[in-house]
Amino acid sequence: MARPTSRFVCQACGASVPKWGGKCDACGEWNTLVEEAVVETAPRGLGRGGGGRRLDFCGLQGSSAPPPRRVTGIAEFDRACGGGLVPGSAVLVGGDPGIGKSTLLLQAAGRLAQDHRCAYVSGEEAVDQVRLRAARLGIATAPVQLAAATSVRDIAAALDAADGPEVVVIDSIQTMYLDTLDSAPGTVAQVRASAQELIRLAKRRGVTLLLVGHVTKEGAIAGPRVLEHMVDTVLYFEGERGHQFRILRAVKNRFGPTDEIGVFEMTDRGLDEVPNPSALFLAGRRGDVSGAAVFAGLEGTRPVLVEIQALVAPSPLGTPRRAVVGWDGGRLAMVLAVLEARCGVTIGPNDVYLNVAGGLRIAEPAADLAVAAALLSSLTGEPVPADAVVFGEIGLSGEIRAVSQTELRLKEAAKLGFERALMPPRSGRRRSGAGSEPPLKVTELGQLDELVPLFDSSGARPPRGRPADPTRTLETVS
Ligand code: TYD
Ligand code: MG
Repeated sequence: MARPTSRFVCQACGASVPKWGGKCDACGEWNTLVEEAVVETAPRGLGRGGGGRRLDFCGLQGSSAPPPRRVTGIAEFDRACGGGLVPGSAVLVGGDPGIGKSTLLLQAAGRLAQDHRCAYVSGEEAVDQVRLRAARLGIATAPVQLAAATSVRDIAAALDAADGPEVVVIDSIQTMYLDTLDSAPGTVAQVRASAQELIRLAKRRGVTLLLVGHVTKEGAIAGPRVLEHMVDTVLYFEGERGHQFRILRAVKNRFGPTDEIGVFEMTDRGLDEVPNPSALFLAGRRGDVSGAAVFAGLEGTRPVLVEIQALVAPSPLGTPRRAVVGWDGGRLAMVLAVLEARCGVTIGPNDVYLNVAGGLRIAEPAADLAVAAALLSSLTGEPVPADAVVFGEIGLSGEIRAVSQTELRLKEAAKLGFERALMPPRSGRRRSGAGSEPPLKVTELGQLDELVPLFDSSGARPPRGRPADPTRTLETVS
């Protein structure tokens, strides 16, 4: 039988199938299968005799001191990278088109160029366009070596020189191509091969490689999820369109912690660092309105306070709407179910909208209790006290579970002028620890149904099955 000369590769997930179809069976995405030539990669084995050179193994302990990291001086960027860029490493910066990746990396390159030989290769914009942007960012005088190129062969030649750059920005990997491959730029095969070539070179020469990658609507870096395996660090640059906040999030880092974030604000002069994100996320907050709760969250090692807003309104539709921005829809369904099943609160026939103000995306389960408080507050019309922060994970049986770094969250809340906290019970050991007296009044909730009476205003319907205790309101409980 003749060997197939081409195959069809899904540009979203990288799956390869022999026949074209409208839909990729692997990821369910439509219209992503693109024909690519088959590269002969049949494994041939080692053959007779092996012929390899014997490896020299060594111990884990060694004297190779790690080379110093290349620090940009943009603290939010350095933090997300785990304390600066590592020589000989590859960093992938992913994000939606137009979110500000080019701006961020041009600014970073401008700073790095003060101490390092630094190159910026743009495959998307012409040299003049980049210059214009640099002028706007106020870094036009930085000694960045700029080029507009898309051929990996040319770029490799430039990198492989003795006086080649120490830091290289490739904007973007989807525009790069290798002339040894038949596929078009941006296809999985091209992106994979180009990245591999550049990364190999970077490792060999100790160059820090910063790759820009566009993201598909599903949130995977376009086409090659394989890219995420190949690089050392994956940073996502994210933010809600229409908000000026941008968050640089480490999702993989071989040289540092993940879940660290850097917060930026997009201004007309580029990206500004935001050293105190809580103040920014809470700006514009109106105190005593119903349906809003301040969540004391944690992003990496950093506490961040954000407002969670809920709107519960009677639905004109047979199937009520559930719309979520900045949080997980499945998690909202769970909190709603626990409220209904364990606390006798009826939300079912209402539309529910949930929004994390400021464009942050929260992944922490610790936000459960703040979501429940915002929902109850919107349902009853009773505001969550303006000086309270809320956090805690909700279990399926309605229990409120402890979360990590309680003290850090409380400290941040106190710093921003909050005076009380609704939170899970703390373990006895911690509570009796000398000097650990929290700076704010703490209301410990062991069960979710203890939260319900706090929102029991006279106008609202009393929760089913559990008569409200009039003495138990927020004012008296703490
Ligand atoms: P850009 O860095 O080109 O996005 P990406 O490379 O991720 O596609 O950013 C484009 C957006 O940033 C654009 O909508 C305009 C905005 N922007 C500013 O608001 N201020 C600025 O100083 C710059 C350079 C861009
Ligand atoms: Mg760009």
